[in-house]
Amino acid sequence: MEKHFKRTLITTALPYANGPVHIGHLAGVYVPADIYARYLRSKGEEVLMIGGSDEHGVPITLRARTEGVTPQDIVDRYHAIIKKSFEDFGISFDIYSRTTSKIHHQVASDFFRTLYDKGEFIEKTSEQYYDEEAKQFLADRYITGTCPHCGNEKAYGDQCEKCGTSLSPTELINPKSALSGSALVLKETKHWYLPLDKWESFLRQWILEGHKEWKPNVYGQCKSWLDMGLQPRAVSRDLDWGIPVPVEGAEGKVLYVWFDAPIGYISNTKELLPDSWEKWWKDPETKLIHFIGKDNIVFHCIVFPTMLKAEGSFILPENVPANEFLNLEGDKISTSRNWAVWLNEYLEEMPGKQDVLRYVLTANAPETKDNDFTWKDFQARNNNELVAILGNFVNRALVLTHKYFDNKVPARGELTDDDRQTLAEIQEVKANVERLLDSFHFRDAQREAMNLARLGNKYLADMEPWKLAKTDMGRVATIMNIALQITANLSIVFGPFLPFSVKKLNQMLQIEPMPWSRLGETDLLETGHELGKAELLFEKLEDAVIEAQIQKLLDTKKANDEANYKAKPIRETITYDDFAKLDIRVGTILECEKVPKADKLLRFLIDDGLEKRTIISGIAQHYKPEELVGKQVCFIANLAPRKLRGIVSEGMILSAENVDGSLAVIMPQKEVKPGSEVK
Ligand code: MF3
Ligand code: ZN
Repeated sequence: MEKHFKRTLITTALPYANGPVHIGHLAGVYVPADIYARYLRSKGEEVLMIGGSDEHGVPITLRARTEGVTPQDIVDRYHAIIKKSFEDFGISFDIYSRTTSKIHHQVASDFFRTLYDKGEFIEKTSEQYYDEEAKQFLADRYITGTCPHCGNEKAYGDQCEKCGTSLSPTELINPKSALSGSALVLKETKHWYLPLDKWESFLRQWILEGHKEWKPNVYGQCKSWLDMGLQPRAVSRDLDWGIPVPVEGAEGKVLYVWFDAPIGYISNTKELLPDSWEKWWKDPETKLIHFIGKDNIVFHCIVFPTMLKAEGSFILPENVPANEFLNLEGDKISTSRNWAVWLNEYLEEMPGKQDVLRYVLTANAPETKDNDFTWKDFQARNNNELVAILGNFVNRALVLTHKYFDNKVPARGELTDDDRQTLAEIQEVKANVERLLDSFHFRDAQREAMNLARLGNKYLADMEPWKLAKTDMGRVATIMNIALQITANLSIVFGPFLPFSVKKLNQMLQIEPMPWSRLGETDLLETGHELGKAELLFEKLEDAVIEAQIQKLLDTKKANDEANYKAKPIRETITYDDFAKLDIRVGTILECEKVPKADKLLRFLIDDGLEKRTIISGIAQHYKPEELVGKQVCFIANLAPRKLRGIVSEGMILSAENVDGSLAVIMPQKEVKPGSEVK
């Protein structure tokens, strides 16, 4: 049975305030949540969209330590940057607050205390690694040692990145502190655990039976967690940054960041609506939706619901439309490697282009699988879709109306079959987009919206009103009226997706934003209504702009490669006799050309002092053939001939491989006779 809801509470994962936000955050969480919120508001529904910064946790304390400032300094800095980025991109939070707020400390502390008083926690003492120099217990991630499986000396306490095995810190051989480098001691410590196992059958029922409609990636992850069996989870930590555990004898302990952060959704609602927050969290007629990325699924589908359920007075999420990850130019986005497009930098470099990014990120949203952001695709979608379809259509409709009808909406006359067909298609858009948005298919929904602009373009192209202007102004009036009705519909349907452009469009059409309910109507603009000035909604992105962005990433890559470069260990010792077997010579390049159908290969003809020999070398991606002709190179002259792509290669040209994989051919420092030996 369809459940009935009165209002929708949208939460968005609270980003950690230890760095700015990037396109991955926007694509995975905030743009879809914002589209959804704007859509529901446009429908006149009661909706709240809650956000905030996640300001606790170990990484923030470490960052503060490296910079020699306090954790509060760190979160103050990034909270401000993040908040501004979201505002700049039109993410329409009803509140964007933070977990260091006083009210959050109170709410989270009370929440813990309620569960504690109800006996919902288990207390357990265990031995954990303690760094006597830094005087603190260490999170698993900050313990390094030798992997017991593969011998990697730099394995972490939670995982060995070399062989991929998950570890616990006590499995590491020679565990050391990543903070101080010192050896660690095991020390007893007491913590509180949420017994997830106790709720397992409830969770199985609620998710696996009750929410089969959840996205397959979300449902699947929940199922595999539940099938593995749940364990009690510690909800406290030994740390001096966070919300103190509100229990006697818990000095030096704080709530685990993943315990307090989701409660931030509640505190932020309470901060916004001190008198009416409860209906948003406790009334079963509120539909709670968590927008998150895939790494947050277990916390939002299993841990937080268990906390809410154990507390007893809260509703549970109705859906958790988690996205997969967005990659950047084929690589995982990474803050530490600076492999990201930072929102604050984007806006400095592409001022006014918020909607372009929103559009591209939605068009490529990682809804069902990881997806890739590339600048070339960004350019193509801007130029071929936003400019060529949406912008072009709106512009033509307005310019022609200005030209033929003094900028006033002309009256429709008798309709042709084409007109009727077009009007019918306008009416279909609403149901299609709604169905997609209601089921969190944002990319398809946006594609449907764009199809309306396509329809408009096609209609104008087919009708050719500019040709009829000399003979049949009545027809032109009808055509332009219909085209203008499409522009007004576009302003409704794109409202949730492209808020900045729609604002401009509304100005151009001289209308107030129209509610969603009117989408599909074919008389949105009254006859005689005067339009405003036509402006371009989008502008073409030139190659140079895109290449500059790509270059910026290449520079980052180079800097990373150089920072990480470590010369390979020297190989096994050989005798002089071994070396003397190699006959290395200098030769002069007589000819050089690409080997057909082989991207990497060049064919050389070399004067070796005795005769001419052919050598094939895999350096085509690093040199143009013409720049090598006439140069001298070093080559191994007594290597047994080998056939490559049907050509016999008689030797090997020597080159050095740089950090980034580029090759530099070895050349004698001054000209020598061809055939000179290298020794
Ligand atoms: N800060 C977490 C992250 O970036 C998300 C926290 S979501 C919340 O992965 F529910 F805990 F708030
Ligand atoms: Zn290993």
